[in-house]
Amino acid sequence: MRNSIPLIAIAALFAIGQAPLRSEAAGENKLEVFSWWTSGGEAAALNELFNVYKKQDSGVAIVNATVAGGGGSAARPVLQTRLAGNNPPDSWQTHPGWELLGQYVEPGYCEPITDLYKSNGWDKAFPKELVASLMTKDRKIYAVLAGVHRGNVLWYNTKLLEKNGIKVGNTMTFDEFLAACDKLQAAGITPLGLGDSGIWASAELFENTLLGVIGPKGWNDLFSGAMQWDDPKVKQAMNLFARMLNYVNPDHSAQSWDQAIKTLMEGKVAFCSMGDWADGEFLKANMKEKEDFGWVSHPGTDGSFIIVADGFTLAKDAPHKDAAVAWLKMVGSKEAQEAFNKLKGSIPARTDVDRSKFDAYHQWSMDSFGKDKLVASCVHGEAAPAAFQQALNDAVTAFVADKNVDNFANALVQAARDSQAMK
Ligand code: GAL
Repeated sequence: MRNSIPLIAIAALFAIGQAPLRSEAAGENKLEVFSWWTSGGEAAALNELFNVYKKQDSGVAIVNATVAGGGGSAARPVLQTRLAGNNPPDSWQTHPGWELLGQYVEPGYCEPITDLYKSNGWDKAFPKELVASLMTKDRKIYAVLAGVHRGNVLWYNTKLLEKNGIKVGNTMTFDEFLAACDKLQAAGITPLGLGDSGIWASAELFENTLLGVIGPKGWNDLFSGAMQWDDPKVKQAMNLFARMLNYVNPDHSAQSWDQAIKTLMEGKVAFCSMGDWADGEFLKANMKEKEDFGWVSHPGTDGSFIIVADGFTLAKDAPHKDAAVAWLKMVGSKEAQEAFNKLKGSIPARTDVDRSKFDAYHQWSMDSFGKDKLVASCVHGEAAPAAFQQALNDAVTAFVADKNVDNFANALVQAARDSQAMK
């Protein structure tokens, strides 16, 4: 990987955790996999992983333990309760960075899988920097990535824009975006679709806008504590975020992220700013790239790639360890990465897959991953500890209602002060 990730040596920040006492004995011929992949596109992609697994390890009954709710906001508390209660699934979905290392590795819930990297040639197949900076603690690796999503994508309904005389080029500035929104609004069309029944979706709109204003260098400064959350640039992003909220559907808080994407498909809204799991929904609905839907980097973010990567862990004393190891081996295989990511919207984390098997959106994202500046997502638990992620969600909830920039900035200044990561 050409570009470095801002979370260098994150692992060094954690103290060695005390592993909890375990009581489960190895059970029947089963494998329990925990995730929050329940939307149409997510479930289809997860099923592909199960299909590949079944081919390799027939006879194991897969228990598909999902907890619905985009971004995992409902799933993670359930998982925490299970882990704290000594009742782990064999393997669970995780974002690398603080989520993996802070919430799961540090308390001793995970078994390292460093050996699998050696025995399967993964040390050559996966981006070294990403594995080293976001998935390693004390030289041990704790997850294997299934795929890498790009968070900062602006999707649009091609026909609706055409009908309204709006052309989107290869990049988009905030001015171009706001002008398009004004035009649509004047024509009686809701410009921007949002589904923030899970507040992370609004937080994501803010995260994308923030990157568009402060750029990747500002991003690294902000999450390392060199830039403050009340910096004029950050406030400029907050003001822009407030302007964008003027263009969203009034029922946004009653909708989920995938329902918002559906309204885009139906031509009820023109744009959605959402990570490329949205592509999984378009694919599931048989929408045609470019003809029915198009994409561009979220305004101002061309040249940057917000990483939202999905990995799987091995539970400490996994109830079905052999099945779990076979699962992880499968997740890291070329076959699985190709089958899964084609449907999920993400790109394979492996850099040695056959690119010709992927569609135009995936090619675009692969190119971006290869040449752009990579930054870790805060909304998806990578760039900052869970407490800060929660503080951001709370501050966004308040801001969506009151649009008070000073309160928004002050809440985040305080949260950063309370956090060990941003000093
Ligand atoms: C992210 C996850 C993606 C996608 C999305 C919406 O946190 O990394 O795989 O599932 O949530 O649920």
